[in-house]
Amino acid sequence: MKKITTLFTILLLTIRLSLAGEGMWIPMLLEQLNEPEMKSMGMRISAEDIYSINKSSLKDAILLFGRGCTAEIISDQGLILTNHHCGYGQIQRHSTLEHDYLTTGFWAMDKSQELPNPGLSVTLLIRMEDVSKQVLEGVKAGMSEKERADIIKANTSRIEKAAMEGTSYNARIRPFYYGNEYYLLITQTFNDVRLVGAPPSNIGKFGGDTDNWMWPRHTGDFSMFRIYVNKNNEPADYSPDNVPYKPKSHLPVSLKGVEKNDFTFVFGYPGSTQEYLPSYAIGMITGTENPPAIRLRENRLAIFDRYMQQSDLVRIQYSNKYAGVANYWKKMIGENRGIRKLDAIEKKQALEKQFTEWANADNARKALYGGLLPSFEKAYNRLLPISETETYLIEAGLGIEVLRFAYGFSQLAQKSRDKTTSAEEISKLADQMKSNAEGYFKNYHMPVDRDVFAALMADWVQHQEPSALPDLIQKQAIVWNNDFVAWSQDIYAKSMFTDESRLGKFLNSYKATKAKKIESDPMFQLAQSVYDYYFSKVQPESQQITMQLDSLQRIYMQALMEFQPNRRFYPDANSTLRVTYGVVDDYYPRDAVFYRHYTTLEGIMEKEDPAIYDYVVEPRLKELYNSKDYGRYAANDGSMRIAFIASNHTTGGNSGSPVLNADGQLVGVNFDRNWEGTMSDLMYDPDQCRNISLDIRYCLFIIDKFAGAGHLVDEMTIVD
Ligand code: ARG
Ligand code: GLU
Repeated sequence: MKKITTLFTILLLTIRLSLAGEGMWIPMLLEQLNEPEMKSMGMRISAEDIYSINKSSLKDAILLFGRGCTAEIISDQGLILTNHHCGYGQIQRHSTLEHDYLTTGFWAMDKSQELPNPGLSVTLLIRMEDVSKQVLEGVKAGMSEKERADIIKANTSRIEKAAMEGTSYNARIRPFYYGNEYYLLITQTFNDVRLVGAPPSNIGKFGGDTDNWMWPRHTGDFSMFRIYVNKNNEPADYSPDNVPYKPKSHLPVSLKGVEKNDFTFVFGYPGSTQEYLPSYAIGMITGTENPPAIRLRENRLAIFDRYMQQSDLVRIQYSNKYAGVANYWKKMIGENRGIRKLDAIEKKQALEKQFTEWANADNARKALYGGLLPSFEKAYNRLLPISETETYLIEAGLGIEVLRFAYGFSQLAQKSRDKTTSAEEISKLADQMKSNAEGYFKNYHMPVDRDVFAALMADWVQHQEPSALPDLIQKQAIVWNNDFVAWSQDIYAKSMFTDESRLGKFLNSYKATKAKKIESDPMFQLAQSVYDYYFSKVQPESQQITMQLDSLQRIYMQALMEFQPNRRFYPDANSTLRVTYGVVDDYYPRDAVFYRHYTTLEGIMEKEDPAIYDYVVEPRLKELYNSKDYGRYAANDGSMRIAFIASNHTTGGNSGSPVLNADGQLVGVNFDRNWEGTMSDLMYDPDQCRNISLDIRYCLFIIDKFAGAGHLVDEMTIVD
């Protein structure tokens, strides 16, 4: 009976995993793997319309935005759409107390007003190719990991070089399925990307960090940019002579909206998932890593918040940092809850038990795979304490801003000591440090960081054995008798890295002989101690175990595919272009609680609270609400739809991704997941996992009716 039950669980697991919703699929393999299912779910276009190298296809309108988001081209003049939180850093950098675009929003009323963003780029995928055979050429069973890695490295760089020859494209090979397959990605990067429009934060970040990762949601999370190119329509560095990019394709925009059960797909750049980890790894992430990270971030956020409430300048300086720290803080809380509720560890254990029985049932298989899970267990047991130490180093040590900043001066100190460095090189480096410092201090408020220092140090020392602490922290904790406030006051007063004018003076007259002053600075010394500890005590061992785990994971992946021959496996997200598809769907987050699949402007009015920054409603939006002046952007029932949820399997990096309907038209912009579903990076649950999208009609309404920037809507291809 027991046997039947577990078998049954496995069967269920297998079936569940093949249901649509779960999976981030490779665009070039859609036709082969997914098209029939997509069509059966309602899709009316073909896989070839989504990804083709012979004709223009939707993929020619999908961009990797900056380092970690997605954007899409929505006009034949290179206009692009992404999330407000993806453009947040840019909007923030253009904001000052006089022009506070974070608060007021920004709209370029013509192209001359669009704002350049040094450092921001967007990347287009030209084509991809399966190069597994070529990359693995020469790799043989029984080779050491090192031999294997060397061969792969040599093959990879040879293939990449050949692919780039004679083109202006980039070529990069990425491993899929933990190195069982390799794909070549040919891309084109644009560096002149200008800010076109952003709503006020009251709209673009409505609900702020309180509503973040949650449904029901009412955030108008979008911002717009434009790609500029040279006269030949080629990527070029910023120049006032550049012209708007003419894309191969741009997304048509639908005003039809979505209803429950409608087919949708999301086309974008999911960053990273780990769906095939063994149970031990899930235990480590949720038991060892997440809890201290959550607690340490809570400490930091409380301090940020206190100072941001007191000063508009500090609010602007720390808004981006706050959002960044808060985002994964909340994600980790949701992930831990989701894993527990889903019994994810137990489910993995059940699968592993079946797997082991299967592996041991055959002698040849036993030789290959029989030792996998015990080896995993051993490796994770070794990794556990190291990963805990690492978590503290990152979340406590590197959570201190000035510590990271001070460490950035190591190179200058080293070069100054090195007799072969020319005076010219030294002064160039000092100049560069000066300009880094300017950027750093623009968003730095020392008292915030000093309080953070005291709080994080206290937590760190309290929770870690002395041997797991960097030397200097161990010593100073004793010197200061664990009075971290007193220590913070002393070190922040003594260090020059906490004081813009002192540091400026020092750098202005910098000479190699002054390296001593860097080296004797107490904050620099502390930073060195923290990094030294990491590089000498933590990294070597963690790297060694990680390498072993990579190899186990590669074999385990291959073994799982043999063990479950009927299961359709998708590769974990790795910041390459993917398609995920599902249907618009509601859900029950808890017993007796039901969540509808869409929200409306009514909900914004319900949430309104003039006393709370996150819930202030713009007077102009209220006016439009009162007069019901929604124009053609209203839903059939007359309401203004704000956001909707669907069962598309998304993750970080999918922010800004287009959400397309059965005809391949833009109906939404992905911007989040629901809290109950954040464990989908480790295990997906079709019952609870939903992606959250901005309804494109609300976006157009804000641009047109709210901001009076209808010329931008006129640029788009609108379909009714
Ligand atoms: N949770 C979303 C994502 O992971 C939105 C984050 C930005 N918003 C915020 N309130 N911090 O990126
Ligand atoms: N907001 C996330 C991002 O920036 C998307 C939400 C998720 O993790 O699914 O990519």
